[in-house]
Amino acid sequence: MKTIFITGGAGYIGSHTAVELLESGYKIIVADNFYNSNINSIENIKKITGKDFNFYEIDICNKAELQKVFKDNEIDAVIHFAGYKAVGESVANPLMYYRNNIDSTLSLLEVMQEFDCKKLVFSSSATVYGEPEKLPLDENCRLMTTNPYGSTKLYIEGILKDLYTSNNEWGISILRYFNPVGAHKSGLIGESPNGIPNNLMPYIVKVANKEISHLNIFGNDYSTKDGTGVRDYIHVIDLAKGHVKSLDKLFRDESCLDVFNLGTGNGYSVLELVNTFIKVNNVEIPYQIVERRPGDIAECYADPSNAKENLKWKAELSLEDMCKDAWHYIKKN
Ligand code: WQD
Repeated sequence: MKTIFITGGAGYIGSHTAVELLESGYKIIVADNFYNSNINSIENIKKITGKDFNFYEIDICNKAELQKVFKDNEIDAVIHFAGYKAVGESVANPLMYYRNNIDSTLSLLEVMQEFDCKKLVFSSSATVYGEPEKLPLDENCRLMTTNPYGSTKLYIEGILKDLYTSNNEWGISILRYFNPVGAHKSGLIGESPNGIPNNLMPYIVKVANKEISHLNIFGNDYSTKDGTGVRDYIHVIDLAKGHVKSLDKLFRDESCLDVFNLGTGNGYSVLELVNTFIKVNNVEIPYQIVERRPGDIAECYADPSNAKENLKWKAELSLEDMCKDAWHYIKKN
């Protein structure tokens, strides 16, 4: 049975991936510093799966703490989620983002090398495409970032490519996420950002739950189907399953450097998401149209054919499932 070390495993995507890995027969080790999560996720992963695992509350910038994890456990591969991920915060505080996201990755890679663990799945983002060169986006499209958060992802992808060039014993899978939303069917784990959410779905959920009075829709004058922004929303369970498939491939191949877009291939507008949420959950979402948000792009959705062909993976869950599960989570918590 292979053992997978998950950095940031108490987070939104990390915790859902932990569940899918355990249910697929992997053993896991989890590390998190709870910057953007809490201990409840760890307990709920165990509750959902009925399985136990070692958890380390550490900062993965700290090499000594990382070395202890690798000394304590026989680790076969790593999935690296840990990192700051708020676009607006990264614009206000770029040095904090570069220091944390890049430093922690370098520490992790050095310790992996030291312990001869050379299989890595890296959590990247469609944000590395910036203003799409064309749609749908495939993995060979132009890369350009428009904020420090996106740049940390792009620079780390470059570090991984250089590492593979220097030593092709490595097996590396770079996963570019589109817009993850939804929650586990149990309602025990999900997305619960503290304070005012930056992203659309957690904001909609708080408006539906009457925690916030109304939704501001950032512009309806884009050249899209209804003027509002279009994105490729993907259920977090589908995204988690994509990680399991990418790990399976790393263990099948001796070594590789892969890049996969993990999206559904469907673009939905803000208004389509709002109206779907209202319909499936029978709630109200008061909204007003306001100015565009600086830095936003009009439209972004994936060509997921590479993952379909080479990971034997494709997203199965619908926009209705995403809305239902996101609402079920907030009502349960
Ligand atoms: C989606 C759409 C907004 C909030 C970001 C990051 C990206 C990734 C996913 C980490 C856009 C509109 C939003 C609101 C709105 N994160 N919107 N009112 O910007 O596509 O991507 O999250 O990897 O890196 O950039 O997601 O959910 O913020 O916005 O109208 O209150 O909803 O304009 O069209 P985005 P989002």
